[in-house]
Amino acid sequence: MTADKPVIHVQGLEKSYKDLRVLRGVDFDVARGSIFALLGSNGAGKTTVVKILSTLLKADAGTAAVQGFDVATQAANVRESISLTGQFAAVDEILSGRENLVLVARLRHLKNPGKIADDLLARFSLTDAGARKVSTYSGGMRRRLDIAMSLIGNPPVIFLDEPTTGLDPQARIEVWQAVRELAANGTTVLLTTQYLDEAEQLADRIAILHEGRILVNGTLAELKQLLPPAKVEYVEKQPTLEDVFLALVGDNGTKESR
Ligand SMILES: Nc1ncnc2c1ncn2[C@@H]1O[C@H](COP(=O)(O)OP(=O)(O)OP(=O)(O)O)[C@@H](O)[C@H]1O
Ligand SMILES: [Mg+2]
Repeated sequence: MTADKPVIHVQGLEKSYKDLRVLRGVDFDVARGSIFALLGSNGAGKTTVVKILSTLLKADAGTAAVQGFDVATQAANVRESISLTGQFAAVDEILSGRENLVLVARLRHLKNPGKIADDLLARFSLTDAGARKVSTYSGGMRRRLDIAMSLIGNPPVIFLDEPTTGLDPQARIEVWQAVRELAANGTTVLLTTQYLDEAEQLADRIAILHEGRILVNGTLAELKQLLPPAKVEYVEKQPTLEDVFLALVGDNGTKESR
C-alpha cells in the first residue's frame, strides 16, 4: 500500500451489546508512523473499538481496515500486522522477564529468541531485572515488559489499551518514552486513554469518543482552537494544599516563620 493511505481506516462503525448502543457510527483514520489517541470516559467504548480493530470482536455495521486489510473478511492478515497490549497486563508472574520474552518469540517461531529477548530488555531498560521473576516487578516494569512482548516480530501497527492506567508519574513517563520511540521507528500506534495529559504529551492526533461517536478529531492545536481564546479573569485565589503545607511547616526560611 502507498505511504499516504491511512494505516487504520474506520468508517461508520457500530456495535451494540444487547440494548446498549455503544458505537453509533465511529469514523477515523490513522496515518503511518503516527500516534493516535482515542480519548473517552469509562464505558465510552474505547476497548470495544480496539477489540474490533484487533479482530477479537465483530462490528454490527460499518467497516474497519488495518494495513489495507478488512478486519471482518481478512482477519488473519490483520492479526499478522498488529499487536495488542490489553488494558490488563498479560505477563506471566512465575517466569522472569527474559523468559516471558523468549517464550513469546518461540511461540511466534522466530529465530534467535534469546537475542530478541535481550534486545527488547535493553530497549525497555529492563536488562538488570531480566532474570528476576515478574512477580517482583513494579507496575511500571510490568507494563514496559508487556509492551516489549507485544513488539516481538515487529508488527507495523500496535494497539495500546490504557497503557499507563495505575502507573506512578515516573513509570508513566517511561512508558511514554517507549511509545515515542516506537512511532519514531515507523510503528503506527493507536492508544486509548482517560488521561488528557497523556494524549497531550504523546499523540499526533486526538479523537474524543463520546456517546458512540467521535466528537472531535484533530491535533492538540486544532482542538484548543475549538474553545474561545483565553480570557483574563480576576478570581479570588483559594489557598492550595501546598500553601497550607508551607504555611504550617515553613518553606526553609524564605518567609518569616509563623
Ligand atoms: N461483553 C459485553 N457485554 C455487555 N456489555 C459490554 C460488554 N463489553 C463492554 N460492554 C459495555 O459497553 C460499554 C463500553 O465498554 P468499553 O469496555 O468499550 O468501554 P471503555 O471506553 O474501554 O471503558 P474503560 O475506560 O472503563 O476501559 C460499557 O458500558 C460496557 O459496560
Ligand atoms: Mg477500556
